Amino acid sequence: MNKRTHKCNEVTKDLIGKDISITGWIRRRRDHGGVIFFDVRDETGLVQVVYNPELKEIFGLAESCRNEFVIYAKGKVRERPEGTINKNLISGEVEIEATELTILNTSLPLPFQLDEHSSVGEETRLKFRFLDLRRDEMQSNLRLRAKVSQVLREYLNHNDFIEIETPLLTKATPEGARDYVVPSRTFPGSFFALPQSPQLFKQTLMASGFERYYQFAKCFRDEDLRADRQPEFTQLDIESSFVDASEIMNLVTEMITKVFKESLNIDLGDFPILSYSEAINLYGIDKPDLRNPLTFIEVKDLFKDSDFKVFSEPANDEDSRIAALSVPKGETLTRKQIDDYTEFVGNYGAKGLAYIRVEDPSKGKEGLQSPIIKFIDDEIINKLLTVLDAKKGDIIFFGAGKRNIVNDSLAALRNLLGKDLDLLESDWAPCWVVDFPMFEKNNKGELTPLHHPFTAPRGSIDELKAEPLNALTDAYDVVLNGTELGGGSVRIHDHEMQKAVLSLLDIHEEQAEEKFGFLTAALQHGCPPHAGLAIGFDRMIMLMTNSESIRDVIAFPKTQTASCLLTDAPGEASNEQLDELHIKFHGLEKEKK
Ligand code: AMO
Ligand code: AMP
Repeated sequence: MNKRTHKCNEVTKDLIGKDISITGWIRRRRDHGGVIFFDVRDETGLVQVVYNPELKEIFGLAESCRNEFVIYAKGKVRERPEGTINKNLISGEVEIEATELTILNTSLPLPFQLDEHSSVGEETRLKFRFLDLRRDEMQSNLRLRAKVSQVLREYLNHNDFIEIETPLLTKATPEGARDYVVPSRTFPGSFFALPQSPQLFKQTLMASGFERYYQFAKCFRDEDLRADRQPEFTQLDIESSFVDASEIMNLVTEMITKVFKESLNIDLGDFPILSYSEAINLYGIDKPDLRNPLTFIEVKDLFKDSDFKVFSEPANDEDSRIAALSVPKGETLTRKQIDDYTEFVGNYGAKGLAYIRVEDPSKGKEGLQSPIIKFIDDEIINKLLTVLDAKKGDIIFFGAGKRNIVNDSLAALRNLLGKDLDLLESDWAPCWVVDFPMFEKNNKGELTPLHHPFTAPRGSIDELKAEPLNALTDAYDVVLNGTELGGGSVRIHDHEMQKAVLSLLDIHEEQAEEKFGFLTAALQHGCPPHAGLAIGFDRMIMLMTNSESIRDVIAFPKTQTASCLLTDAPGEASNEQLDELHIKFHGLEKEKK
């Protein structure tokens, strides 16, 4: 094997006149006036190698090289001629005048040129992931990922946490998604579930006397996928005994701050703490993007006696709200844009999007332009302008109707307006959201936990049973730029409380026993009070690298339909495997092979 003397980025002015050798991929071959130039890339960067026609044999070999061939090149380092210096490269002031060339491996014609990745579509990139991963962007994303995991590990080790692995072949963990199941060969008809999170195990570890645990844990959730969700993803999972919510929050704030500082030299600043109800009232969502200055203003009370039905009906309905978003720079919005926004909020169930353009607030109604003011009394209009502190050039949008529809639609509109009108006031805005309710009602009217059923409600068991929807918890989510980075809570460590929560969720004792009897047993054998949290590690790296999709920070991700284009998984099992697993297909013909 031809051993290199230097890596590409080590080839600098210091080496001028020296004979050196490098190895790498030909990123680009250029033929200029009878001279061949290679940009050779290794994991450190690029260096330019020059082949002159005088060395006939080697020049012929260089001519046969194509992009992404792997080569060994030897030669003398020389200064680049005036005017050809490349300031963007560490090696940009020099080049290697080559005297040797060995082709270590060839490459078939490429399905896409690495610098034209965006025009080929993600499918091709994922199918040929080994090529896609050679690109600078993917290299730097995965290198940052490795570095961040190292900083996190160092931080946690330094703070007396120990790393413990928990099983992947296990039982269902109730985190609210569908399970991936794995059939058991040794127990016909039985299945393992891949963990949605290590929640039950980490609590069991607390009962086992490990007071501070962490793990980079693979989690599996068979749910609808989006840009920030993968069926298989990584959490930085943390749990600690004898701590309260504020200790976990302080630790995680310090940890995230340190990671951003050490890995990217970014100061995240303060992490303001909002209650869940504040977040919903002001932003319609429990993961607000605080870079965006817009807030919802509740104007329900103004319309109780109005004749404008679109507003007066929700104004008199307990489950409804009327929220206004007063948008500076709104005067620049065209009619077409407003129509598009109306269609956009329609996707979230909103029946319309009322608006008022504030042309001159000093003129009262005369200074406004809007399709709805003709339906509204002057007195209400004046009050509205005062409450909203309306200024010339603002546009005010209204959402009226069922609370969740108004919240969802205006929260999404707020994000969109922030982007479209360039309203964001900073690059980074972290926050904590706390005081989550224990339960909410799903669309079938059943109680479901906002986090998971192991979160400790505040107050007594009797209070919880009497008014479950009013029970709050010490759960906390950490949010960055409108993305939920992580979440956790103080857990239930009292068996009776756990029983009460499960029974409110209609999970009966036998069922609980079957599903997570080991945890309920642990709770009854001296389980200490404990609390924890899990950070979505991929999401964190997605934000740190400013990536559009979580797929850009995972080496081998799945597609939107949860398949892997590189390996073509999932694939068929052979008939022998199926027989061993005692599996027969129902209503799905499998060809006998
Ligand atoms: P939770 O379900 O909130 O909590 O998950 C914690 C964090 O994991 C990330 N995350 C995901 N990332 C990528 N793809 C997904 N499909 C996905 N789902 C979740 C999010 C989220 O904030 N056991 C609890 C934690 C605890 O209570 O300690 C749990 O799993 O960033
Ligand atoms: P309509 O009476 O349905 O034509 O609506 C009158 C105005 O109110 C239009 O500008 C609609 O876009 C707006 N509007 C209708 N329903 C809602 C709603 N639920 N929230 C906010 N605005 C609405």
